Amino acid sequence: MAEVTTGKELGVRETPIPGFLVIDLPVHGDNRGWFKENWQREKMLALGLPDFGPVQNNISFNASVGVTRGIHAEPWDKYISVAAGRVFGAWVDLREGESFGATFHIEIDPSVAVFVPRGVGNAFQALEADTAYTYLVNEHWSADAQGEYTFLNLADETAGIPWPIPLEQGELSDKDLAHPRLADVAPMPPRKTLVLGANGQLGRALQQRWADRTDVEFVGRDAVDLARPETLDDVRWSAYATVVNAAAHTAVDGAETDEGRREAWAVNATGPARLAAIAAEHRLTLVHVSSDYVFDGTEAQHDEREAFAPLGVYGQSKAAGDLAVAVAPRHYILRTSWVVGDGKNFIATMASLAERGVDPTVVGDQVGRLTFAAELARAIDHLLESRAPHGTYNVSNGGDAASWADIAKRVFERTGHDASRVTPVTTTDYYAGKEGIAPRPLQSAMSLAKLEATGFAPRDQFEMLEEYVQALPKG
Ligand SMILES: NC(=O)c1ccc[n+]([C@@H]2O[C@H](COP(=O)([O-])OP(=O)(O)OC[C@H]3O[C@@H](n4cnc5c(N)ncnc54)[C@H](OP(=O)(O)O)[C@@H]3O)[C@@H](O)[C@H]2O)c1
Repeated sequence: MAEVTTGKELGVRETPIPGFLVIDLPVHGDNRGWFKENWQREKMLALGLPDFGPVQNNISFNASVGVTRGIHAEPWDKYISVAAGRVFGAWVDLREGESFGATFHIEIDPSVAVFVPRGVGNAFQALEADTAYTYLVNEHWSADAQGEYTFLNLADETAGIPWPIPLEQGELSDKDLAHPRLADVAPMPPRKTLVLGANGQLGRALQQRWADRTDVEFVGRDAVDLARPETLDDVRWSAYATVVNAAAHTAVDGAETDEGRREAWAVNATGPARLAAIAAEHRLTLVHVSSDYVFDGTEAQHDEREAFAPLGVYGQSKAAGDLAVAVAPRHYILRTSWVVGDGKNFIATMASLAERGVDPTVVGDQVGRLTFAAELARAIDHLLESRAPHGTYNVSNGGDAASWADIAKRVFERTGHDASRVTPVTTTDYYAGKEGIAPRPLQSAMSLAKLEATGFAPRDQFEMLEEYVQALPKG
């Protein structure tokens, strides 16, 4: 039996396979034998290992020299070492993408561990009898998952793995002898993105933005209903890396009724809390959308750190959703305001009134910025693609803040009508004598500095308004 290497410094090394890491482990030997910390999350994260969240520990015992297993790519990450003995480890990248086919090999004794990302083909050969090969994985094994494995033949000529013991002399399973050559391997696709609430304004804008992406799935309330948690249990979450929650109960006044209050809390708070727990369990990035209604609107400009002070039930339920989602380790909460997308909305209504000769009174003391749904979708794409730091971001269009009356006037003007037909009124006067109206924050404008610091330049609200109005159907 070979001597175990002792006295190494803990270290992490990169390899030609992206994300595949070699870890040098300090092994402490004495007259009794040796000891090592095989996995130490805090120290290893500090050296650049991903926080991969292991949930299962497996050990394979290899009785004789020359036992050879592989090449198997599984739909989860692995952290491999040996507890006794020595192996020759070999890996081939079987993930879709440029690095497909990249190979790496190294001898593993107890002073070496390797981190194998999901989709990288894994194989080893025992170099000593009684070798105990041990590995942590971050998904529970299931028979279902076997359908997602990708295999490569141990003798593949393209990979050309230099087995220390020729395969003909090794101990192999019949199954492993039958795996395909590299040219016939179907590469493992990346984990997908799931969009919930796909039929709302934001959901439809995301459908347009990601129309060409085959790795994004869109589902409406019929498939995943945030108010019915059992529909969340039907989703195979391990297939996804990212979930975008575009679903919400957005009826601000409706939420003030007995039934609406219940519904708003179920969809905006309880559902997102369940999603946050799922995201933590499955290492998902959770993108959630919030609102300026979590504030009371007394600050002229809201930044992300402002204390919650929601005025109505909708805002209260959204604030509770924010608190819950913020617990997910990988989350983006996008606080937005005055969303305008496809279908019935304020701009389309004003354009129609202008056309039909109706002179509206419009609230002139609520000030904020529009957020075109396409711009919100672009911001979501940007935060995910740029891997911006997780956290809460304000997202709206840019430019000067304006009141609803200012915006209405602009719509009249840009559709060729007299802007003075719009009469500004106060919120109090507008709703005087009306029942069941939720209180609204007067100041909705949000600071966009944090978003801009990630490299995103929000488009001017009136520039997008102009384009939107021009695209409205005439008549
Ligand atoms: N609209 C705004 O002015 C505004 C302002 C600030 C923040 N926000 C936030 O921005 C986000 C997107 O809003 P939006 O304007 O796109 O809203 P929206 O057009 O009202 O869309 C919401 C979507 O959520 C779906 N939904 C409702 N209840 C559901 C449930 N129980 N389970 C699953 N889906 C459900 C709706 O489905 P159905 O089609 O079946 O009804 C709808 O498709 C929301 O988080 C909202 O709170 C909006």
